[in-house]
Amino acid sequence: MSSNAVSRSGAASHEDLIPRYTLRERANHWIGALAYAYLLVTGLAFWSPDLYWLAAIVGGGPVARFWHPWLGLVFTLSVFWMFVEWRRDMQLDSNDRAWAKAMPYYIRNEDDKLPPVGRFNYGQKLFFWGMFYSVILLVLSGVALWYTEALPWNLRFVRYAAVLIHASVAMITIGLFMIHVYMSVFLEEGSLPAMIHGTVTRAWAWTFHRSWYEALSGRSRSKQ
Ligand code: HEM
Repeated sequence: MSSNAVSRSGAASHEDLIPRYTLRERANHWIGALAYAYLLVTGLAFWSPDLYWLAAIVGGGPVARFWHPWLGLVFTLSVFWMFVEWRRDMQLDSNDRAWAKAMPYYIRNEDDKLPPVGRFNYGQKLFFWGMFYSVILLVLSGVALWYTEALPWNLRFVRYAAVLIHASVAMITIGLFMIHVYMSVFLEEGSLPAMIHGTVTRAWAWTFHRSWYEALSGRSRSKQ
């Protein structure tokens, strides 16, 4: 049976599996995901009195207020580490522009007419850069809010700007986060096991990230 005939995510023999994420990449990803989940719950609790009950889940308002900035730093470091590890694979290139032009095929479910994709697809790259630049704005405005007492009164516009930036950028990340979880967990069958176990089937790689798969197979053939 050709490897491409194997189900995208279903049971596969060990020879069918290829590495997609290292242990370090996965550990960092899940630290970032947990930190973000905490920031989301506590941030929403601070945002509206109607959502303050969410703080009870994590030990009450004062506990949430204490940990929110610290977990913000953990999330920032995690995203910066993703930048260190993935920045090359996340570069937007001519292939992504060709893919964007061919998007109507994607919408019509005619995936065979789309240009082959590298390690990350156009949407994954947009998500990554969206999160990366959002984190920079969130951490800068977050630190200004953390040490707001230290800001002299004549610099009060910094406080106002920080409140506005922190809340609106957080909203953008919530949108990105929801799309990310929906796409990677529910739409691309086989992606979640990749982020858990680190491997994907050859069929999955060929279907969703053909250029990456071909580059990887070429490299492993030349090593033999
Ligand atoms: C509970 C929440 C989350 C779940 C279930 C989740 C799930 C996943 C999965 C399954 C993948 C692998 C996709 C693939 O290789 O095709 C992935 C990749 C990735 N995740 Fe998450 N993730 C979560 C939260 C986050 C957060 C908060 C960030 C913040 C930056 C993030 C950033 C990324 C990035 C940059 C990638 C690589 C590119 C991509 O697939 O989009 N994830 N995630």
